[in-house]
Amino acid sequence: MNIPVATVGAATAGALDGLERLQGPVTVVRRCTELTELVAVSQSGIVRAAVVADEAGDLTAALAERLAAAGVALVALTDDSSLRLRLDAMRIVNAPGSVDPGALADLIAVAVQALEQAGDGAGTAGGNALADPAAAFGPGAAGPEPEGAAEPEGRRGVVTAVWGPAGAPGRTTLAVNLAAEAAAAGARVLLIDADTYGSSVAVSLGLLDESAGLAQACRLADQGMLDDAALHRISASVSLRGHRLAVLTGITRSDRWVELRPAALSGVLEAARRVADLTIVDCGFSLETDEELSFDTMAPRRNASTLLMLEAADTVYAVGAADSVGVPRLVRALSDLADAVPGLEPRVVLNKVRASSVGREPRSQLRGAWERFGPGGEIAAFLPADYDAADASLLSGTALLETAPASALRTSIAELAGVQVAGRRRGALRPRAK
Ligand SMILES: Nc1ncnc2c1ncn2[C@@H]1O[C@H](COP(=O)(O)OP(=O)(O)O)[C@@H](O)[C@H]1O
Ligand SMILES: [Mg+2]
Repeated sequence: MNIPVATVGAATAGALDGLERLQGPVTVVRRCTELTELVAVSQSGIVRAAVVADEAGDLTAALAERLAAAGVALVALTDDSSLRLRLDAMRIVNAPGSVDPGALADLIAVAVQALEQAGDGAGTAGGNALADPAAAFGPGAAGPEPEGAAEPEGRRGVVTAVWGPAGAPGRTTLAVNLAAEAAAAGARVLLIDADTYGSSVAVSLGLLDESAGLAQACRLADQGMLDDAALHRISASVSLRGHRLAVLTGITRSDRWVELRPAALSGVLEAARRVADLTIVDCGFSLETDEELSFDTMAPRRNASTLLMLEAADTVYAVGAADSVGVPRLVRALSDLADAVPGLEPRVVLNKVRASSVGREPRSQLRGAWERFGPGGEIAAFLPADYDAADASLLSGTALLETAPASALRTSIAELAGVQVAGRRRGALRPRAK
């Protein structure tokens, strides 16, 4: 396999010089003076890999994503150990500047292969690489494990995504209150508002939403600087019965969705799993991937954040409104979900359950309709329509457990969260598996 390579950095630098002299599949076909030139060369299709020696400090996850989308694998060389940690965090393959040219050629070949495999995956897995083109750069995917890399074996919290079709079925209500219940029960919880159409977690919890915490987190992740302290600093705090619920608020204007790039979001989720026992993500509704049809492979993809979250989550709740508009809409949306993320088994939640919309004994009516028209599988929960509780909670900007602790809606969500409300004992929280 022939691997034409472009480089950035003085050819006199040991490794690049050695690489140019090597006989073998890896050939340096272009020496660039700066990163912008490298991007242009990569997009022209004449190289399959890029080695960045100078300017490695200016690399970002977005740039790596850009090269990956053009089919170019990236390897960075630097002797700066803190920069190497940042590169690891951005999943950019890296090595010391003094690396042996032969070892560098091997590293390049492995990175190229990993990128190709990720590309093949996109064709069959329907959206994997769409959601995370940078996956090919994972430390396990290519090359020797760089020394000092953050060990992926550490604590890993679980991620729960709350999703549902358009029409305000109650995604945010469920996400906010699941998070609140878990936090009040003592778990370390991070709530992320990833709805790129109408973020509303901040207003639901009475937070100033000017900070757009998720956009900030993405910016830091893009630069490989989202460590635990940074994530703590930029997440807003809500105090619930003496416990902290951390929140990454959503984008303040829906036209800011371009700031939530998949590679950066993966980095945010990774950091979230490190710091929180449970991360709950309030997702947008749309799964459409029509951007795929665009010839501009780097066009940002508005729904990529939802797709990425659904793929990454350990548990997915699919919420639908329990009425004659909401249920058929949920059934159609579940079929789209099965196409977009094959193999996913969402837990179906019917919300705003009331006799006035479906008749007497609404649960058995809904169960019957689900058996006849639904995609199979059980309904995991029925959440009652409880307008007084929902309105009071929104009006006061607090969770149901504070505004309406004895309400039927709060009790049902607490039960779903695995928190026992009845009696004074609140049980340990056990996140459910997929
Ligand atoms: N079980 C419920 N009973 C009554 N009102 C509800 C219930 N669940 C949600 N709501 C209300 O419905 C509206 C939409 O809910 P929201 O959670 O914001 O939907 P989504 O995030 O799906 O757009 C809000 O006004 C909310 O208070
Ligand atoms: Mg919402």
